[in-house]
Amino acid sequence: MKKTVRSFGEAKLSGAKLAVLTAYDYSVARLADASGVDAILVGDSLANVVMGMPDTLSVTMDMMIHHTRAVSAGVENALLVGDMPFMSYQATVSGAVENAGRFLKEGRAQAVKLEGGEAVAPQIRAIVEAGIPVMGHVGLTPQSVNVLGGFKVQGKSGESKRKLAGDAKAVEEAGAFAVVVECVPDDLAAELTGLLSVPTIGIGAGPACDGQVLVYHDLIGLFPDYAPRFAKRYLNAGELIGKAFSDFAREVREGKFPGPEHSFHSPEKPKG
Ligand code: KIV
Repeated sequence: MKKTVRSFGEAKLSGAKLAVLTAYDYSVARLADASGVDAILVGDSLANVVMGMPDTLSVTMDMMIHHTRAVSAGVENALLVGDMPFMSYQATVSGAVENAGRFLKEGRAQAVKLEGGEAVAPQIRAIVEAGIPVMGHVGLTPQSVNVLGGFKVQGKSGESKRKLAGDAKAVEEAGAFAVVVECVPDDLAAELTGLLSVPTIGIGAGPACDGQVLVYHDLIGLFPDYAPRFAKRYLNAGELIGKAFSDFAREVREGKFPGPEHSFHSPEKPKG
């Protein structure tokens, strides 16, 4: 059944946990959708896992739209959320609405996500008023890495806990249908989950959140040498894929691939 922002509201009321995965292309979008996840996020983590960049700051609107469009072709049931990249919404409210609109018109997403709290509440309100659902994102907000001084757990001190709670509430009051809570202590995430009437979707925020999101590369171990502490690895895909690639190269060199079953044969000539 098609998931919508209403399904997210209903899950908060019923206590059903929400599962969200990232995807960046058609083939993985199909697999993620078939798995039954509630939402698929085309994250600006695209910068790290697809483009090999050290942070998310250089991702453009055009890159995000390109990948969102590809993902949309593989999604039937999950809610498709496009992640607004750095400087696509911070500067002006009207710019934020226009760029959010591109995610729906060109990318075929059904919602957008943007990072920040009270400071971006006017943008969230205006985007929602334009008919575009918004997922908020508080805690570690990677687009603000230079202000935060690194990719660090947030909300450890009393002051920063209070600020985070204020930000989460401001995002909800501005009309967000859900809020990603990234890299905060589990007790603070539990507090935020109790405070908000929309679902919290945690990443590195403990089990009390209403849902969980992971970058799929972390879940399937696509980078054998990188495993964030908060992500559970369900598969060693990096090792499996690496072995398949080297088996292929070896068999080509040994003349074992292609075999007769992978080759086309001319029809036999009639005898006589
Ligand atoms: O860009 C992303 O993938 C995200 C998730 C980690 C929430 O923002």
